[in-house]
Amino acid sequence: MSETFHAMWRSLRPIGRSAASGGYRRYAWTEADADCRLWFRMQAEARRLDVETDRNGNQWAWLGDPTAGDAVVTGSHLDSVPDGGAFDGPLGVVSAFAALDELRARGAVFKRPLAIVNFGDEEGARFGLACVGSRLTAGRLTKEQAYELRDADGISLPQAMEAAGHDPATIGADPERLAKIGAFVELHVEQGRALDLSGDAVGLASAIWPHGRWRYDFAGEANHAGTTRLVDRRDPMLTYAETVLAARREAELAGAVATFGKIAVEPNGVNAIPSLVRGWLDARAADQGSLDQVIAGVEAAARDYAGRHGIDLAVTRESFTPVVDFSDTLRDELAKILGEKTGEKTPVLGTGAGHDAGILSESIPTAMLFVRNPTGVSHSPAEFAAEDDCVAGVLALADVLEGLACR
Ligand code: GLV
Ligand code: MN
Ligand code: MN
Repeated sequence: MSETFHAMWRSLRPIGRSAASGGYRRYAWTEADADCRLWFRMQAEARRLDVETDRNGNQWAWLGDPTAGDAVVTGSHLDSVPDGGAFDGPLGVVSAFAALDELRARGAVFKRPLAIVNFGDEEGARFGLACVGSRLTAGRLTKEQAYELRDADGISLPQAMEAAGHDPATIGADPERLAKIGAFVELHVEQGRALDLSGDAVGLASAIWPHGRWRYDFAGEANHAGTTRLVDRRDPMLTYAETVLAARREAELAGAVATFGKIAVEPNGVNAIPSLVRGWLDARAADQGSLDQVIAGVEAAARDYAGRHGIDLAVTRESFTPVVDFSDTLRDELAKILGEKTGEKTPVLGTGAGHDAGILSESIPTAMLFVRNPTGVSHSPAEFAAEDDCVAGVLALADVLEGLACR
């Protein structure tokens, strides 16, 4: 199995990789995304699985009858953040195929249909909203809302889908598909150091923090950087900078995290005071009350600064995902299966990262397996998981799938 794992890893590695940064730029409905989709299809066909792309652009590879019901589904996503790492998403998809190889080598007999899934546009790097494929399927993003999404060049999501050969006319909730799924298990590289600190290769997910994205538009007045007196300026960059510091302060106060990681500046000239600074705030906390506190605190500070600098401020919530508590029943079942195999207790941990499994958790029983990340670094080319831990992850996933689908 570890041979097929490595062969898959090698063949996926060059797709969408930036030679300059060493990171991945696999954005929804781009050429790199098409290459990832082709890769998925080839892996599925090599294993004699039936491949389909659903109405919302998610890819499914089926072993058994998709219409039979009570299917066990595993997989993750292949898209990336700008200059993302190799593991966030792909580890779950590669491990899914490798786990199937492992189960076939064990001579497993499947009593439930099995599917491997590649969810479309999990990171939201291009259109700003994360988990578009699973949100549409779960009815947590409507067709009308999806049609409003645009990338930085003004291309709408339906235009991008169409250009990539996917008909956007029928996107939207897909309850019939979800009704045929009995369990979804997503394996993912850990995006923190909990497993490294506990000394475990694999863990189970308890919960996902509530999180969201807010767009801050600071509008001021463009003017000459050399000739405009400081007192005459309406400089939105100053208000933006003060808001970044406020986000850090509010996050510290609430025991949360808050990040301005993306910014757009107009006109974006070295010698011009900006007319507009647009910054995106990503905020997450262990509970809703703490998150509300951060969001309210940052906005109040921004409005205060804006008032004092003559800046017009508009704040728009672009996405929000409430707290996810994964199914206790499914997690306990997975813990029991893994405990029987290893004789050890699998650690259970929460995460501040969003996942398709979280989006689907309101509709179907979902669970997640995490694989140790020794540095905890993620959303960066430095993201890493050791070979032995990846193999441990595949074996754990195989055990879980066997326990769910073959008994
Ligand atoms: C996705 O990885 C997210 O947590 O934003
Ligand atoms: Mn991610
Ligand atoms: Mn991910």
